[in-house]
Amino acid sequence: MPRDQQFGKHPVTSDERRQMIRTVFKSVATRYNLMNDLMSFGIHRFWKSSFVKQAAHYSGKNNIDLAGGTGDIAALISRKASVWVVDPSIEMMTQGRAKKADITGWIAAEGEQLPLADGSINLVTIAFGIRNLTSLQGGLIEIHRVIKPGGWVFCLEFSQPHWWLRPFYNAYSEHVIPRLGALVAQDSSAYRYLVDSIRSFPDQTHLERLFAETGFRDVGHRNLSFGIAAIHWGRK
Ligand SMILES: C[S@@+](CC[C@H](N)C(=O)[O-])C[C@H]1O[C@@H](n2cnc3c(N)ncnc32)[C@H](O)[C@@H]1O
Repeated sequence: MPRDQQFGKHPVTSDERRQMIRTVFKSVATRYNLMNDLMSFGIHRFWKSSFVKQAAHYSGKNNIDLAGGTGDIAALISRKASVWVVDPSIEMMTQGRAKKADITGWIAAEGEQLPLADGSINLVTIAFGIRNLTSLQGGLIEIHRVIKPGGWVFCLEFSQPHWWLRPFYNAYSEHVIPRLGALVAQDSSAYRYLVDSIRSFPDQTHLERLFAETGFRDVGHRNLSFGIAAIHWGRK
């Protein structure tokens, strides 16, 4: 069977990758928010609010937060506009529903196959989700399909930090994150996947190019925390 995808560092088939990612989020769902706070010293909250401040400006009548998980981003957008969460993990969305934010609705679906009409969405946001798609190219094409002409995609994702930060960041990722995962979420392999998947994900320039190749215009990016994370955007 051809091994055409990555799961962290390991080559796998697309079906295997999809199943493995499902298992990761099923396993970590109840500790997901706590782990984010611990791993990032709470900085992910600043990244998310900075992301939503920029993206929500482009919201319209129909907005989705893809790979929305426990609804952090949608909860912030919902203060300004209506928004649906789209995510294949029932377990993650169940945790999100308990937060009782004013989110319009929750849709169980994958980014590569959205149950939405062509050109129907004003704004697609995707935070820490694009790296988890089974097919990055397939997901980008599908996001482009559902956005209205003139509508926007905004993506928040881990990226490549500045050169001087890399040794510290790599040491922290390699030694601390899987141990924290084992201790708090009782699943070191899920957090080993996180570290490996960040390492093998396209950097800022490469992701921007992929957005442009999919057909997005006015693409750009902005680094957060010296490039540990980055916000990417594009207009259809
Ligand atoms: C790291 S979490 C991010 C959750 C949320 N956006 C946040 O920022 O906290 C990644 C999410 O991607 C979802 N996911 C995994 N595979 C996906 C796919 N093929 N399409 C869309 N979402 C997917 C997972 O279920 C999970 O909820």
